[in-house]
Amino acid sequence: MQFKYRVNVTKKLWEGRFSEKTAQIVEAFTASIDVDRRLYAYDIKGSIAHCKMLAHASIISDEDAAALIQGLEQIKKEIETGKFQFDDRLEDIHTHVESRLGEVVGNVAQKLHTGRSRNDQVAVDVRLLLRDETLRIMRRLVELQSVIVNIAKDHIDVVLPGYTHLQRAQPVLLSHHVMAYYEMFLRDIERFNDGLRRINEMPLGSAALAGTTYPIDRNYTAKLLGFAKVSANSIDSVSDRDFILEFLSAASICMVHFSRLSEELILWSTSEFGFIELPDSFATGSSIMPQKKNPDVSELVRGKTARVFGDLVALLTMMKALPLAYNRDMQEDKSLLFDAIDILSACIEIYIQMLPKIKLDKSAMGQAASSGFLNATDLADYLVANGIAFREAHLCVGQIVRYAIDKNKELHDLSLEELQSFSALIQKDIFDVLTPKQMIDRRTSFGGTATKRVKAAIREAEKQLGNLTKSFVS
Ligand code: ARG
Repeated sequence: MQFKYRVNVTKKLWEGRFSEKTAQIVEAFTASIDVDRRLYAYDIKGSIAHCKMLAHASIISDEDAAALIQGLEQIKKEIETGKFQFDDRLEDIHTHVESRLGEVVGNVAQKLHTGRSRNDQVAVDVRLLLRDETLRIMRRLVELQSVIVNIAKDHIDVVLPGYTHLQRAQPVLLSHHVMAYYEMFLRDIERFNDGLRRINEMPLGSAALAGTTYPIDRNYTAKLLGFAKVSANSIDSVSDRDFILEFLSAASICMVHFSRLSEELILWSTSEFGFIELPDSFATGSSIMPQKKNPDVSELVRGKTARVFGDLVALLTMMKALPLAYNRDMQEDKSLLFDAIDILSACIEIYIQMLPKIKLDKSAMGQAASSGFLNATDLADYLVANGIAFREAHLCVGQIVRYAIDKNKELHDLSLEELQSFSALIQKDIFDVLTPKQMIDRRTSFGGTATKRVKAAIREAEKQLGNLTKSFVS
């Protein structure tokens, strides 16, 4: 059995004022260590910076600071090598580290918390973690975008119906459809990047809520921890969780995008659509129906989206009636935040790996794009180009469509004579006009589906991807 360092769990950081032991049930109820142990590296990093600042401001001696820092580094190693014993009775990560520090370095440990409170400590820990996680998520979204761009590039000739109301509307390039997701994830990255600006402010030194009597140098600590600035108001600093709310909002919107993508993949993989085949390695079977290949991965992404929304709504609800400044309710923020970080990260990784493995059925897509009167607008536009007003053309084409439905034909299956019986303006060049390829390539308006436009959009995206990571706030 591996030896574990045991921290003295009978001592509370705040026991001085109390004459009775905390009830066991209360210890268990108030403990957050199961969740906030994830902050350990940031808690230690924050404490080391705090020590250095205390020495720099001559609040503690250089020798004391050196001893504290050495002890903190040792504890980090103990945690990382699994030698550290966590215990419910020690409330949270801050208490664990500080109590163990007492055992490692002796009495000098009691100086660590000078000019600091757990209220500003937990705020700095979460900000440090969220800064790293946000940057990591943004980088992974960029990777996902490059997967998307490659798919768009490799399938530039694939045509499928574009839909409105889930009814076939007009043919589009698959690449154009796929690049719509590029734009969504670009906005997500921008939102996370914008949030980083507000994450990147340092609350340490606000102490419990009012600041401290010690001559601390907050800018010095901020510099050590790489924060762009120090927070301006100590009351706000310890009670602000906007930066988590913003992250959860951005994560929720990003999950909306993953969920919509999932929904499309689920639909497209049905035999009714038959547009794609999911890779075996990313699908699951049925325990009873041997023929089944189910899109469980996409379904779970869609399902987990609900949980991220829940995390956001729970935090909004938790914060909405809190008086200033810190309240213990706020301890609940971390499980919500970590849940959302983990779900979003998993979904990004899943799609980075799964998307390139999806098989497309070009001919099923093409066939779907050639039936269902998707060329009706183009016939109307043709009449307009030949001199009549759009409303009149719309009416005329509506009548042709009704006629074709009766005859069980598509518009392009009607003979020239049949078409001309509705309008003398129709000539035999109409049959070129009505092909999906032509319809697509005539839509040359900026942002439209014409091949040359989509190719330009892909080129633009490739350029953008090269520069995107450089624009991240850090
Ligand atoms: N575990 C607490 C949290 O996550 C740390 C701050 C505790 N502060 C306090 N005054 N009890 O919010």
